[in-house]
Amino acid sequence: MLIVNVISTAPINRLQWLFGESYGKAKGLRNPRIDAEVFEAAPKLKIVAQMAVGYDNIDVAEATKRGIYVTNTPGVLTETTADFAWALLLAVARRVVEADRYVRTGQWEVSWHPSMLLGRDVYGATLGIIGAGRIGRAVARRAKGFKMKIIYYDVVPMPPEDEKELGARLVDLDTLFREADFVSIHVPLTKETYHLVNEDKLKLMKKTAYLINNSRGSVVDEKALYKALKEGWIAGAALDVFEQEPTPMDNPLLKLDNVVVAPHISSASYETRSRMAEMVAENLVAFFEGRQPPNLVNPEVLKIRPLSKLP
Ligand code: DGY
Repeated sequence: MLIVNVISTAPINRLQWLFGESYGKAKGLRNPRIDAEVFEAAPKLKIVAQMAVGYDNIDVAEATKRGIYVTNTPGVLTETTADFAWALLLAVARRVVEADRYVRTGQWEVSWHPSMLLGRDVYGATLGIIGAGRIGRAVARRAKGFKMKIIYYDVVPMPPEDEKELGARLVDLDTLFREADFVSIHVPLTKETYHLVNEDKLKLMKKTAYLINNSRGSVVDEKALYKALKEGWIAGAALDVFEQEPTPMDNPLLKLDNVVVAPHISSASYETRSRMAEMVAENLVAFFEGRQPPNLVNPEVLKIRPLSKLP
């Protein structure tokens, strides 16, 4: 058996569809995590081929222990995801979604005044990037075209030549929150990054600053973010990811005009999703032919279940 997980936060009905009767045995499963409970329900499972770069939804250690291969699709979604971070940033700074609603609901016809729908300048502002991996750097490269000052935080600094090329300065996390006009998050979800953006950090931000998140929802404490937005500690937020996905309709963030939201679509372009699907297929074909999948997340599994051609 194999699982092809189309997106890391796939709704549970996908698993139900994939597992059929086996899924039924995993009673009480109410989230899209692929973990011991799922593995128990699928004793013949050999490979989980994730169609995403992130795999925080998979218990990789547990999979490895059971000899289950885990693969992902890194690299190909970097530029598309960076594009979407920029789409979010520009949309929230220049109130694109509110403006769209303004026109469609006929408000433009009844009211126009010079201070309506005022946003904030992006050109020349300071961009704070949390996580300077592939996607964080791709976001920074685009910021150069906007003549932005770029500061970043990462546990692993960029190589000096990249810092030079991007004109990026490494700062500590508190400085980043204090100085940035736009904070854009590009870290994986780990124990260390869970709720990295919390009440304390949001309180450091400028009242005129924006938070952009298209990494993983749980990097941000949503309750704290709601408070920050509602009480005006920050100007706005743009989110493609949520602590729970799909986010429930009663999520109070959805009631706020200074929040732009999207349903986890940062890598959703025709070109990128096709390439991701091809990579899933390449990983699976390699596995079934007894070759090491090109994007194996848990190479330690090779010792537990050595590769072999399937009959
Ligand atoms: C990823 O690849 O991790 C993305 O979040 C899926 O679109």
